[in-house]
Amino acid sequence: MKYRTPAAPQQLLDEAHRLQGQRLRDLVARDDVRVDALSISVDGWLADFSKERLSAAAIVALVQLAQATNLAAWISALFRGEKINLSEARPALHTALRQPDDGPIVVDGYDVVPAIRQTQGRMRALVDAVRSGSRVSATGRPFTDIVHIGIGGSDLGSRLVCDALAPVSDASSRGPHVHFVSNLDPAHLSRALGPLHPATTLFVITSKTFTTQETLANARAARSWVDAGLPADTAFTTHFIGVTANIDAAIAFGIAHDDVLPLWDWVGGRYSLWSAAGLAIPLSLGWKVYTDLLAGAARMDAHFQGAPFADNLPVLAGLVGYWNVRVLGYRQRVVVPYSRCLAALPAYLQQLILESNGKSVTRDGEPVAGPTAAAVWGAVGTDSQHAFFQWLHQGTDEAPVEFIVPLRTAHPIADQQTLVVANALAQAQALLDGRDDVALREALMLQGLTGVALNAAIAARRCPGDRASTTLLLPRLDAIELGALLAFYEHRTFVEAIMFGINPFDQWGVELGKQMAGPLAAALTGAAPLPLTTDASTRALCAFARLALREP
Ligand code: F6P
Repeated sequence: MKYRTPAAPQQLLDEAHRLQGQRLRDLVARDDVRVDALSISVDGWLADFSKERLSAAAIVALVQLAQATNLAAWISALFRGEKINLSEARPALHTALRQPDDGPIVVDGYDVVPAIRQTQGRMRALVDAVRSGSRVSATGRPFTDIVHIGIGGSDLGSRLVCDALAPVSDASSRGPHVHFVSNLDPAHLSRALGPLHPATTLFVITSKTFTTQETLANARAARSWVDAGLPADTAFTTHFIGVTANIDAAIAFGIAHDDVLPLWDWVGGRYSLWSAAGLAIPLSLGWKVYTDLLAGAARMDAHFQGAPFADNLPVLAGLVGYWNVRVLGYRQRVVVPYSRCLAALPAYLQQLILESNGKSVTRDGEPVAGPTAAAVWGAVGTDSQHAFFQWLHQGTDEAPVEFIVPLRTAHPIADQQTLVVANALAQAQALLDGRDDVALREALMLQGLTGVALNAAIAARRCPGDRASTTLLLPRLDAIELGALLAFYEHRTFVEAIMFGINPFDQWGVELGKQMAGPLAAALTGAAPLPLTTDASTRALCAFARLALREP
């Protein structure tokens, strides 16, 4: 990929060059001043950037660059509801959904806050009715299970929150069991429905557009399953709730008008868990958990809006992200939450960061001036220590790692939580320090190794260290802290986008593959020939697959 202009201001490139000439572990070794300068404590969190290949001088220059980029004006435009999603001429107003007060936010001459409150009121009524058992199934039985059908932003956020908080919410606040079905693979829906009964299952069909192939296919299959499983004189309607901006389509599908909750075009899919798209959260965990989640996000919103850049967690994290990609040239970022409850976080962040910032043109449609989002991947620790950490410690490539560590657990067993925290800190330390050759040599010589065998044994065991990471310590994982964590990542992604000069709120790249799937499906079933423009590789694959699909 060719970039039009230099990747970053010369001052930053010079500082990067200076730092690249030094060992990171020497920089950090005994420098408490560095750790103070490159750490930030906010609302009981500690974010430590001192193990990044970074300096206080780099931070000063990055803050200046953010000021010159008008970041403050962009932040206030975001919260005010200006149409900063330029390619779709829309605001990105996910923050309005968790705004604690009723202060007006005007879009196209209308205050959106009353509509938000009205929808929250409808959500609450629905949640109370389902959880109290006053809304019953077509057979008069209470709903024991909820199947949320949606994909991408209409799935990942709610799935993450339900997964993260289910184990810590007390039994009295627990409602029906929630199941998430997103994939077009029929195995996903079949497996979810296997143990369930149509008479006690409620479906929440969540799709902003109500045209998404996966969601509609699964919703239709769910409708047939309910229809087939209910007595002949009952209707499936009470078993379906819709959440969408395309209300007519949801009604045409068969959902009752009063059971369709609205989304608005100013809520992007991957920012929608705070809206009715997150209905599964209060349905399964209770209203208090949901409002705590919003309150935690609002706390982070207030910090992001109010704190000076040098003390602003999402701003600093975004600037470090920009620095790692644009200045140091890292093309990957690894996220490792040290909490089994956050196992779904890497997938959520992949969508949030990569669908937002995987762009190669600026807001004006010009080629970007340098690389944008690094590829994001990761998995929960400590499991991932027994998988890709080998690559992190001794592989030929390097990717900064983000350790996300809730310190206290709601499920203490002996000293296990202390061990979890120790493992997270140890991995960050090992990436930084590596393994010392001298100590290694002595230990191996004591085992009797000498000469070539000794050198080979040292080489195999050597960990070069000098590998960058950020550590984020949270006091605990509850609804408030999780809300703040997700809002933190939203805002950091926004900061990076502004620094890259791109629009994080559209996703035109995902449209093309969707469009091509239609003709291919028709060709696979034999309903229509492939378009003449289809390439030879795709033709051959299609011909091969068609034979297998025809087999019984
Ligand atoms: O994957 C692309 C995408 O457009 C996401 O942005 C969105 O969250 C997802 O599809 C689902 O879209 P919808 O909510 O319209 O079904």
